Amino acid sequence: MSMSIEPRDRLRIAIQKSGRLADPARALLASCGLSWRESRDRLFCYGEALPIDLLLVRDDDIPGLIADGVCDLGVVGRNVLCEQDTERVRRGEASAFRELRPLGFGGCRLALAVPDGWEWRGAGQLAGRRIATSYPALLQQWLQEQGIAAEVVTLTGSVEIAPRLGQADLVCDLVSSGATLAANQLKPVATLLESEAVLAGPVAEFEGERAALAEMLLRRLDGAVRTRNSRLLMFQAQRSAIPALLPLLPDAEEPTLLQVDGADRLALQALCHGRLTWQRLEDLKRAGAQGLMVLPVESMLA
Ligand code: PRP
Ligand code: ZN
Repeated sequence: MSMSIEPRDRLRIAIQKSGRLADPARALLASCGLSWRESRDRLFCYGEALPIDLLLVRDDDIPGLIADGVCDLGVVGRNVLCEQDTERVRRGEASAFRELRPLGFGGCRLALAVPDGWEWRGAGQLAGRRIATSYPALLQQWLQEQGIAAEVVTLTGSVEIAPRLGQADLVCDLVSSGATLAANQLKPVATLLESEAVLAGPVAEFEGERAALAEMLLRRLDGAVRTRNSRLLMFQAQRSAIPALLPLLPDAEEPTLLQVDGADRLALQALCHGRLTWQRLEDLKRAGAQGLMVLPVESMLA
């Protein structure tokens, strides 16, 4: 099946209409300098600052919209993207979309979870069991890799209550905080996929106007993703304290050392990608740092 798509010189990005990834996806794109005029049906947002429009859809529809060329890009969970790609490959179809960038939010994992009472002794235990999931392709593939013959029960929602309803013996579902599993007396025992929100795009390269637009957006996204968790750390210290201070900054990118007065006093400035907790600041102070200051990073362009 092929759809004829008119050539466009605007870029169209699909994001989740509502749900876990909806707000952070929009905020991330806005931090890249995009802004939109909302339509009355709130499904299409016309790009104002740049010719980049938004389409608000169900997350499960995003890979298909990219495959059909209806959208150029999408923000979607790696779990959804991998499931649909695995399904295509199992059907003998070629891949039609791919992950362009991990976006650093919406972290979760696809895990196998068994009733609390089970003593987990490994995948061998699953032979002949019924496993409820919304990710049948990824589960089938995993079972195949493990050499286990089990029954996959495909459900579109409320997977976690399947064992209590007698529809399945265990589940394979997304786990984020773990609260949903715990509330249903289930415990995670194996991880099939580590997931987060990703920017998805077509397998083929963009052409013309859209190639330049996509390239610019990716460059801004890279900066925005790095900026989000980064802080600029500044302090002063005696030169002799530097060997004790640097090991406390394993996540610092190329610290800059400036001589302040005389040869003995230095000012340090470093971009840190990890968390700068109070504990860490106190450790730095004890190791000789003075006048510690942590600053948020507004934007970054490599
Ligand atoms: C997932 C999953 C669980 C819940 C787990 O659903 O299906 O219901 O999140 O989160 P927790 O470990 O923090 O309790 P999600 O919100 O991603 O929606 P969807 O899979 O139905 O799209
Ligand atoms: Zn969904």
